[in-house]
Amino acid sequence: MNQEKVVFITGATGGIGKAAAIAMAQRQYTVVIHGRNKERTAAVAEEIKKLTGNRQVDYIVGDFFLMREVKKAATSFLNKYKRLDILINNAGGLMNKERAVTAEGIETTIALNVLAPFLLTKQLLPLLQQREDARIINVASNAHKLNARPDFNDIELHKHYNPLRAYGNSKLFLIWNTQHLAAQLSQQGLHHVRVNSVHPGAIATNFGVTSNLGGLMNVVAKLLRPFFKTPEQGAETLTFLATGDIHLTGTYFEKNKPVGASPKYYSKRNEQLIWDYCEQQVKQWK
Ligand SMILES: NC(=O)c1ccc[n+]([C@@H]2O[C@H](COP(=O)([O-])OP(=O)(O)OC[C@H]3O[C@@H](n4cnc5c(N)ncnc54)[C@H](OP(=O)(O)O)[C@@H]3O)[C@@H](O)[C@H]2O)c1
Repeated sequence: MNQEKVVFITGATGGIGKAAAIAMAQRQYTVVIHGRNKERTAAVAEEIKKLTGNRQVDYIVGDFFLMREVKKAATSFLNKYKRLDILINNAGGLMNKERAVTAEGIETTIALNVLAPFLLTKQLLPLLQQREDARIINVASNAHKLNARPDFNDIELHKHYNPLRAYGNSKLFLIWNTQHLAAQLSQQGLHHVRVNSVHPGAIATNFGVTSNLGGLMNVVAKLLRPFFKTPEQGAETLTFLATGDIHLTGTYFEKNKPVGASPKYYSKRNEQLIWDYCEQQVKQWK
């Protein structure tokens, strides 16, 4: 029975996350959505209930720029739910042309796109491990192929920051963390927990709409938008990884198929370096 299965989807107040939440509610899963604004998130949960006729739709709130809020959201989930089958780390975004840091002192792109899923996954892993078939899906992007240019001595880009570079780096790091966790789980014999990453496609959502990328890039972003696909199309590979007969782990998917992540910049050492950086940044919240 799907109804007993619980899926938690972050950043599900709009765009790809909301479309995935609707798809999972239609399949009669218990769906817990996350957003950063209480009214908006509650309203979307109600909307999904009405649209799908599934009453098992709930919500959790937290601003995922902040690790203390990620920890709080995880605690709320653990207090309320004794079961988690699927975690979809979808919340993410493209920031502005000026580098910004969170109130906790972390560059905003890496806080939201890398550290928030890292910490949330750590917190919820003990619950996921209890299922016979558990899944973690990290929403990455092909931007890691186009725009990543990491500096391993300056992970948060204090120097030479630009929003596309920070975004590309963050998705590259998310893919590496996916691989790293998959290997760790396999080493521990936890083969029933599969963790994969996904490129959803170029999708017309709120993504980047309010980002100020700077003069020319703002124009290019507007010109490209009519060619983008719908949020429902963007949710397809997420739903496939959540519900399909998946045996792969640590793999990067696009259009329901495993595809290679960019090998540029990859080494086991760099993967470990990013994992260690994440461990260090979230250690006070664990
Ligand atoms: N659209 C694309 O072409 C594309 C391509 C590749 C990858 N992606 C990835 O797909 C994922 C979903 O993006 P989308 O296109 O659906 O964008 P979106 O429409 O902007 O949705 C992003 C979601 O994340 C939430 N969010 C943003 N900042 C947050 C924060 N600080 N704390 C908590 N939640 C926050 C948003 O909530 P609010 O409603 O409060 O803003 C929203 O629910 C992202 O990880 C993105 O990087 C998108």
